[in-house]
Amino acid sequence: MNLKSLCIIVLLLSFYLLPHGAGAADVRGTIKYRQNYMNAISGHTGALRRLKDGLFSAEGHLQMHAEALAKLAGDITLLFPEGTSLGKTDAKPEIWENWADFEARAAETQQAAQALLDAVESGDGAAIDARFGEFTDTCKACHRPFRK
Ligand code: HEC
Repeated sequence: MNLKSLCIIVLLLSFYLLPHGAGAADVRGTIKYRQNYMNAISGHTGALRRLKDGLFSAEGHLQMHAEALAKLAGDITLLFPEGTSLGKTDAKPEIWENWADFEARAAETQQAAQALLDAVESGDGAAIDARFGEFTDTCKACHRPFRK
């Protein structure tokens, strides 16, 4: 083997074996984005709790947070593309090993967020309390098996 073909082989190998610059940045960006997104869900959830408990009151805010949660909860699975289990993440590899189960947990959160929005629109305080509790239970139901 001459030097030139050796160089080509080394170049090709390094291309396949080393993490690609853009790919690594995408993974980092995706992990950061999903953590921001989860914190947005958490922020709306905490804000809604304060409002429903009467600790603060502002026209339309209960509705605003409930609508945001119904939207955000619908796209959780998009935040977990394959290949984003490594790096500064608390996502467990089990997510991708049990994807159907993970999707089912996300669907439960989506349904619970919609039920919470319906309760908020009905204006029934007892129903809002009940649906809120069920909604936050669905966060734990996913975090327990799938988050470090
Ligand atoms: C279908 C699964 C799933 C559901 C449902 C879910 N989470 Fe998460 N959550 C995760 C995973 C996985 C992580 C870890 C993400 C990471 O570190 O990459 C996470 C991370 C978080 C974090 C930490 C973000 C950070 O800065 O590291 C918060 C806060 C959070 N979730 C809040 C919530 C709340 C509140 C709910 C319910 C309203 C919820 N999550 C519903 C899977 C879920």
